[in-house]
Amino acid sequence: TTTQVGIVGGGPAGLMLSHLLALQGIDSVVVDNRTRWDIEHTVRAGILERDSVRLLVDAGVSDRVLHEGDEHDGIELAFGGASHRVDFKELTGASVWLYPQTSVFMDLADARAAAGADVRFGVTDSSVHDLTTDAPSIRFVDADGTAQEVRCRYVIGADGSRSMCRNEIPETARRQFFREYPYAWFGIICEAPKSAPELIYSHSDRGFALISQRTETIQRMYFQCDPEEDIDAWSDDRIWAELQARVALNGHTLKQGPITEKAVLRFRSFINEPMRHGSLLLAGDAAHTVPPTGAKGLNLALADVRVLAEVLERALRTGDDEVLEEYTDRALDRVWRSQHFSYWMTSMLHRHRDATDFDIQRQVAELRSVVGSRAGSTYLAEGYTGWPVG
Ligand code: DHB
Repeated sequence: TTTQVGIVGGGPAGLMLSHLLALQGIDSVVVDNRTRWDIEHTVRAGILERDSVRLLVDAGVSDRVLHEGDEHDGIELAFGGASHRVDFKELTGASVWLYPQTSVFMDLADARAAAGADVRFGVTDSSVHDLTTDAPSIRFVDADGTAQEVRCRYVIGADGSRSMCRNEIPETARRQFFREYPYAWFGIICEAPKSAPELIYSHSDRGFALISQRTETIQRMYFQCDPEEDIDAWSDDRIWAELQARVALNGHTLKQGPITEKAVLRFRSFINEPMRHGSLLLAGDAAHTVPPTGAKGLNLALADVRVLAEVLERALRTGDDEVLEEYTDRALDRVWRSQHFSYWMTSMLHRHRDATDFDIQRQVAELRSVVGSRAGSTYLAEGYTGWPVG
């Protein structure tokens, strides 16, 4: 097969890029080693920034987000025995939408299928070749067991945090930035009504808890746990007791129901620089990972591909690679700010295992400064609802 852009990874980044390129008349092929079923059944985050929603709607991918998603004009920051609302709409004019990443994926996969796009899920043995030439390729074995080759002008690595494409950039040509965190989240899905109209970010002496949502009848909740936590040690009753205890300290009560999913999520910050090497360009988690507090991951991936679709169009139209040099700087400007935002939300809200009384009082004072100051809460609101794409 020959195409203009070969995309490794059929998650939201890869599919949205394929869609945006098609709108500009550019042909692409997408391959992913997961099946569509696997991707649809992996629980991911649920908050879309204002411009992520705009992109889905304006690009004609989904108006389901507007009907089935839920607009949230603010969040509750709960700490020090009380809950404080941060009103994004009033502070910045912007809001966010609760709409699960799996729904974003399904909308994109449906839109690509409806347009007759070449998207291959469930491939094996994928590899990328000749990345420093102007005729790179992707090789793989398709779901029927046939060896395939996609020849293209550019290869996109949108293949997630364990990216195979990223490893093709020689060590001498890249820099990687890491940060580990001594935190993790115990995440659950449960069948219960909403406990509050908006998300609750709760700081407590027992550790952080986040009360999120999925639908009127399904909810998503997390509580801070040890990265080595044993899932089997947590019965439903024990989970509810812990979640209730953490939010009760700040005046909230949760509506309980059967728990249908349990998983431990580890935290990490990571950035690979540059995001371009020859004819290879990275997008989304393949190039960067953020800790989950603030739900920036999917939003960053969508912001990357907006910039990428624009520079690829110029490069293909003019035949001049030079415009691709902009990509790293434009994308990483936002990535680093989001990296800081996620780090800041994480360190303000979580309890460190060695925390002293001083450390905890300092965190509460920081939270009081945020909710007590228009400047402080406006910074949070701008970061949460998302900066404009540069
Ligand atoms: C969700 C995840 C987050 O990391 C967050 O900050 C808010 C919501 C979620 O899964 O709903």
